[in-house]
Amino acid sequence: MEITGEGPVLVNGPVDVTGPDGEVVRSERSVTALCTCRRSRRFPFCDTSHRDRERRAHRGGGSR
Ligand code: FES
Repeated sequence: MEITGEGPVLVNGPVDVTGPDGEVVRSERSVTALCTCRRSRRFPFCDTSHRDRERRAHRGGGSR
């Protein structure tokens, strides 16, 4: 498992992920990126939406 800076947590191997509602979803990928920012439209999986926040922060934009 790898924790990235502002982005996802990377988990090696196929994983079962239990969401906050108790739903279990399975990823068969060799590396699964789990969203930690809660902005992903594919939550609990990262869809790179966290990059929008990083870009705004670098431009001095809004707080989200
Ligand atoms: S960590 Fe990538 S979309 Fe949330």
